[in-house]
Amino acid sequence: MVVGCVKEIKKFEGRVGLTPSAAREYVNAGHQVLIETNAGIMSGFSDGDYSKAGAEIVEKAEQVWKRSDMIIKVKEPLEAEFGFFREGLIIYTYLHLAADEKLTKALLSAKVKGVAYETIILDDGSLPCLKPMSEVAGRLSIIEGAKRLEKPFGGSGVLLSGVPGVERGNVVILGAGVVGENALKIAVGLEANVTVLDINLKKLTYLDDLYGNKITTLYSSADNIEKSLEKADLVVSGVLLPGAKAPKIIKRSYYKSMRPGSVIVDVAIDQGGSTEVSHATYHDDPVFVVDGINHYCVANIPGAVSRTSTIALNNATIKFGLIIANIGLEAAFKASKPIKAGVNTYDGKCTCKGVAESFSLPYFELS
Ligand SMILES: NC(=O)c1ccc[n+]([C@@H]2O[C@H](COP(=O)([O-])OP(=O)(O)OC[C@H]3O[C@@H](n4cnc5c(N)ncnc54)[C@H](O)[C@@H]3O)[C@@H](O)[C@H]2O)c1
Repeated sequence: MVVGCVKEIKKFEGRVGLTPSAAREYVNAGHQVLIETNAGIMSGFSDGDYSKAGAEIVEKAEQVWKRSDMIIKVKEPLEAEFGFFREGLIIYTYLHLAADEKLTKALLSAKVKGVAYETIILDDGSLPCLKPMSEVAGRLSIIEGAKRLEKPFGGSGVLLSGVPGVERGNVVILGAGVVGENALKIAVGLEANVTVLDINLKKLTYLDDLYGNKITTLYSSADNIEKSLEKADLVVSGVLLPGAKAPKIIKRSYYKSMRPGSVIVDVAIDQGGSTEVSHATYHDDPVFVVDGINHYCVANIPGAVSRTSTIALNNATIKFGLIIANIGLEAAFKASKPIKAGVNTYDGKCTCKGVAESFSLPYFELS
């Protein structure tokens, strides 16, 4: 197969679909790999690194799209890329189609085979290609939040670790999933006081066993949330109800009892956010203030640490990508349930139930 990787064109997106190391795996498996010139530069990978891995550097994105059987990306294709779609082309990337009718229709009308990272699902219900980005976002949420607590950034002037003789800062984490667990790890590492809330008692039990009296776990009731927020310096929300909008569990009415300059990092912003005032922001202007509370609502947090995120993403995507390249998409979705779940569009038909329902399209089950 000819496998191609183009430079991402979305604003402030530094990740790239293939690392040189992943490119080498495809080459070793007998595939031809095309890389658009400078595709990996924002993740710290030069054209030379890809050449050494056996890939061919191609000057123009258009040529990569034209010559490839499978395009491997990070973000969903943007309108400027729709013109490159053609019948039978495989696109393997995050697609997030349920939120993008234009892209869905463009993929369907061009009969592109769209395989979405975010719908690849394992038998235990986990999402292997989403997990690494939640890990990154969870860890970075504390680092970014800690920075925004500093006075020059408009924060309350609290150092999360405190110092001997001065109390530690309070971190409240809503949602004990992948984002929450990773935020917790960093917050405990910074020696802050940490409270974690979830509606899933199994997860709270696990964290209680793991961290003991280093953390406090609370059931995520309105009462507990409101009381925790009164003391919070930094709040991180990683709540998720699969397939639904994030619940708005942080009410604006709670802000009046919070300390001005406190920070809410709403990681769940990509599902609509968990405060009543959240709206998506970008890395160049990530924070807005409401009632004296700083809101950090970047929808692609991992893009800020593009090198780490690119490598983490490739570690997860390479396995399924190689199966598709080695035996072809048709044999791959017959042999692998996770890959079948990843196929969102095929031969002009919508093959993902959630996407079909979003736009009242007929759903077609692959067989
Ligand atoms: N902004 C970004 O750049 C970025 C990056 C990665 C992930 N995310 C988003 O972060 C969110 C969390 O992702 P995840 O991988 O951790 O999901 P996850 O499924 O692993 O965890 C979600 C957790 O939220 C809990 N939850 C649900 N309702 C709750 C409530 N009312 N109160 C408290 N907890 C509740 C669930 O029980 C679960 O433990 C998702 O929306 C994901 O898309 C955003």
